[in-house]
Amino acid sequence: MNIIKVQDYKEMSQSAANIVIRKVKENSKIKLGLATGGTPKGTYDALIEDHMQNNTSYENVTSFNLDEYIGLDSNDPNSYHYYMDQSLFAHININKEQTYLPNGTADNLDKECTRFDKMIETLGGIDLQILGIGQNGHIGFNEPGTSFSSGTHVVALEESTRQANARYFDSIDEVPTHAITMGIATIMKSKEILLLISGEEKAETLKKLIHGEITEEFPASILKKHNNVTIIADQKALSGV
Ligand code: GLP
Repeated sequence: MNIIKVQDYKEMSQSAANIVIRKVKENSKIKLGLATGGTPKGTYDALIEDHMQNNTSYENVTSFNLDEYIGLDSNDPNSYHYYMDQSLFAHININKEQTYLPNGTADNLDKECTRFDKMIETLGGIDLQILGIGQNGHIGFNEPGTSFSSGTHVVALEESTRQANARYFDSIDEVPTHAITMGIATIMKSKEILLLISGEEKAETLKKLIHGEITEEFPASILKKHNNVTIIADQKALSGV
């Protein structure tokens, strides 16, 4: 894993955006894997700013998101569909029909998981996957204990994950208990992965990732087996390494 060390959240975001912009310019039909949460928000802001200033085009870009809560439809302000619209899609010239997120309100969730994996495969796979990380090492919503060979699947969220994400909801009771997430194997099939880590609350997580063993109890540890991973980490996140 290659590590880019940066000062703070702002520099991490700009540095990640610069990589994405370069890749989009190199390959206008790039397939991006996108993440939600607080971590990539600044990257999306930087992409929007660049789009407004330099007209970088996303017309032919396809995107796949990592995950979605079960039970929230795309108009729900807490859904990841809504997050992506507000944080990125509405502000760049991406074709909404080429943006894919799991459908958390599908009647048959198992079918939806299969459909999502098939879609990624049929469209040629993900070229560049952006990842954040949960404090317990989860990537997407793959909680500790998830099989490294998992495809897209339904997960029960850990209480700690629900609590960490409760800040976006009115109360913890409103945080869904389940989600659909790309599986670990799905994520590992991406040709290139960009993992963003910022803040002291992720210092222990980053330390474990770098020095710990590869185990399903710490899902992100599998990234050590991928041959093209770049971590962009800020000083606070690096403080435990
Ligand atoms: C959620 C998302 C993950 C994200 C993680 C960390 O659980 N499903 O994709 O990486 O939270 O979120 P944050 O970036 O807000 O710390």
